[in-house]
Amino acid sequence: TPTRLADYRPPYWLVDRVRLEFELDPTATRVTAEIEFRRNPERAAEGPADLRLDGRSLIWRGAKIDGTPLADDAVAIDGEGLTVAAAHLPGERFTWRCETEIDPAANTALEGLYISKGMYCTQCEAEGFRKITFYPDRPDVMAPFEVRIEAPEEIPVLLSNGNPVTGGGTSELVVTGGTRRRVAVWHDPHPKPAYLFALVAGDLVAHRDRFTTASGRDVELAIWVRPGDEAKCAYAMDALKRSMRWDEETHGREYDLDIFQIVAVDDFNMGAMENKGLNIFNAKYVLASPETATDQDYERIESIVAHEYFHNWTGNRITCRDWFQLCLKEGLTVYRDQRFSADMRSEPVQRIADVVALRAAQFPEDQGPLAHPVRPEEYVEINNFYTATVYEKGAEVIGMLARLVGPEGYRAALDLYFERHDGQACTIEQFRACFEDACGRDLTQFARWWSQAGTPRVTVEEAWEGETLVLTLAQETPPTPGQAEKAPLVIPVAIGLIGRDGAEMLPTTLLELTEARQSWRIAPAAGTAEPLPEPAPAPEGNAPADGPAVLSVARGFSAPAIFRQRMTAADRALLLAHDTDPFARWEAGHRYALDVALAAIREDAAIPEAWTDALGRLLTDAGLDPAFRSRALTLPGADEIAGEIAGAGGLADPEAIHAARSAMRAALGSRLAGPLAETCAALAGSGPYSPDAAAAGRRALRNRCLDLRAAAGSPEAAEAAEAQFDTANNMTDRMAALTVLAHHDLPGAAPRLAAFHARFQGDAQVVDKWFTVQATAPLDGAAGRIAALAAHPAFDWKNPNRFRSLIGAFAMANPRGFHAADGAGYRLVTDWLLRLDPVNPQTTARLAGAFESWRRYTPDRQRLIRAELDRMAATPGLSKNTREIVERMRGG
Ligand code: ARG
Ligand code: ZN
Repeated sequence: TPTRLADYRPPYWLVDRVRLEFELDPTATRVTAEIEFRRNPERAAEGPADLRLDGRSLIWRGAKIDGTPLADDAVAIDGEGLTVAAAHLPGERFTWRCETEIDPAANTALEGLYISKGMYCTQCEAEGFRKITFYPDRPDVMAPFEVRIEAPEEIPVLLSNGNPVTGGGTSELVVTGGTRRRVAVWHDPHPKPAYLFALVAGDLVAHRDRFTTASGRDVELAIWVRPGDEAKCAYAMDALKRSMRWDEETHGREYDLDIFQIVAVDDFNMGAMENKGLNIFNAKYVLASPETATDQDYERIESIVAHEYFHNWTGNRITCRDWFQLCLKEGLTVYRDQRFSADMRSEPVQRIADVVALRAAQFPEDQGPLAHPVRPEEYVEINNFYTATVYEKGAEVIGMLARLVGPEGYRAALDLYFERHDGQACTIEQFRACFEDACGRDLTQFARWWSQAGTPRVTVEEAWEGETLVLTLAQETPPTPGQAEKAPLVIPVAIGLIGRDGAEMLPTTLLELTEARQSWRIAPAAGTAEPLPEPAPAPEGNAPADGPAVLSVARGFSAPAIFRQRMTAADRALLLAHDTDPFARWEAGHRYALDVALAAIREDAAIPEAWTDALGRLLTDAGLDPAFRSRALTLPGADEIAGEIAGAGGLADPEAIHAARSAMRAALGSRLAGPLAETCAALAGSGPYSPDAAAAGRRALRNRCLDLRAAAGSPEAAEAAEAQFDTANNMTDRMAALTVLAHHDLPGAAPRLAAFHARFQGDAQVVDKWFTVQATAPLDGAAGRIAALAAHPAFDWKNPNRFRSLIGAFAMANPRGFHAADGAGYRLVTDWLLRLDPVNPQTTARLAGAFESWRRYTPDRQRLIRAELDRMAATPGLSKNTREIVERMRGG
């Protein structure tokens, strides 16, 4: 039975204070929870209330209320928690003291308290705390926590949230009755919901630093890792200090404890977790060295460190009232981390990367059976809603708001939000009210972005009348599961005009589309865009190739919509060469490539010279940022092309898409052979590695060129890739070379894959890469290769990173292999999902989403996938997590 937003009620009982005691033991950890409960005055009128606490997989060892042991018949324990009838409770307030026992070693789901490579750690968001002790495990119950941890002598580091009380930040040795034990006590004065609780214990070492806040508070910083990894923490630490400064400078937010800690953990379901003062990270988003991490890894580390740090204000100080409000913290925090990355690196390249990611992950979700609003209204399993829609589309919604109210409006609204709601558990309505009150703007219609699922289509119609343009924008959102009717959204559309000589005729101008259909008269000479009282009729004919200027639309990707604008290839090339908005410039090239791919697939059209020429001019434009050039030379992905085909009412054939992409890359590689080789040579690496954005951009462009040369079958490129692999002084270049060799099935691949494994077999992050480069090779018989790799001794499938590095990478990033016509790819992935499900439902359910776009493909593929979905649905004991995803995919 789903949980519904409409059923929200405030809690009967609030918590004033929590004291937890842990006696750590791998299979029998004793947890004592002392909780001060108080009746919620908001619900006092309802009379006496039972005490209902959440709890799962806990062994009950008894409880006391105000010091009196609770009679066995006073408490009713069921699979989801316990109830103490009101008759057994002292009226208004009481202290609950409860002992439970848990088995961290048996916890393979990695939710609650578990053990990863000998180290105790926790993951409580969303509902993991209930696997630690009985508690009102809901985010609107906030309390200060004191935590005492006791462990055997050989576990020297005992951490929890807040500031150290005893143990000096590690632990102290205590001798009781001849046994030597470690003890530490932590206190977190900031009231928090249980999902932000964290405990870590193990033989860990710290990489330490300090930070002085704007107001002069001295903060101790520590990144905890397993011994041997301390040399790989410097970049994460640097990113942390830059994040702390950035939040002060851009949002006026300072850190609020004496210490901030990060712990790297090998077994982790997600990326990282913002537990108050004690962030816990998937090790792959902390550890980096030039020899083991790629530029992309560095970039991800920077943005995730920032993301989790920014949660301290947007998530922790102000949290969510209930889990339907998840986007309140996630959408806003993603928006903040994207802005941070844009400030640290290149703003246009960051924007392009964010849009590419949105289209790759969120658009398919929004257009398929798993579509849901940014703020969902019901769920079966909340962990299934940590989605690209909640996170990335949620961030786009904040970005649109920021664009509509301008930078001062955004800052004023956020200041008001922090001031008004500090210490509270809030809703989207309260957040929205801050923008309305600070900016004097009615956001009633805008709020549909949070409640209405689906990607809006905006059709662009242009009619030139001499020197003025009549522009009509029409919006439509297709139905999504459970939402047949869609209302018009407020869509900010940033436009500009580029004259046929390449000069800008109208600088960026923001239009607000609020109706189903609306027109503007745009006079570039006067620089005006005047709304017309009535929408203009649809213009006749084809793409408007006759006007004095070309319309650049949705500059900066001003809304998460699909913009349909008919345009000739020549006009796309004009914008690719001259648009003043870097995003729109990239987008013109992207649309151009999509048009070329679709023509190749539908009409078997040749790859036009004009297209390769246009990219050739861009490639050799030394005035352009190499990172931008690399992005512009990257083709649309196979899944995006499938989405285009399906969006136009067709069915996608994965082999045809693969063939078109290969032909396009080969055409670029052969027709631009000279310039590609010259660019490679001009950018050849020298000197020590630095992960900065400029150096990374040069490597990205050079490796992009190498790949295109190899796509054309150039023997020199094969040799260059071998030499690059053999001599690289960093993982970015080594990995890029290995990918070229492996993905183009070159003879140099096999010995180098073996050498790579031999050299890096002790490094989990690099072994993951070794699996992934092979899992994603678009070669014949891919499923058989995956099966062989799965038999490798290093394939520790219970480790989520390792499972994702092989099975996940194959399902999500090898479209040719996954969609093989014989169904072997679908079968292999399903077999593995069914094996993982009883062990780790969260990770299984997430990867099951690999099938979400199944309706886009040709009937033979649909039949094969349907059979696998049916097989999963028919599996007895399938987890609630995976069942919800599978059923939604079958139904949609
Ligand atoms: N709040 C974390 C973040 O976005 C994500 C944790 C989600 N974990 C989960 N099991 N649902 O930073
Ligand atoms: Zn987050």
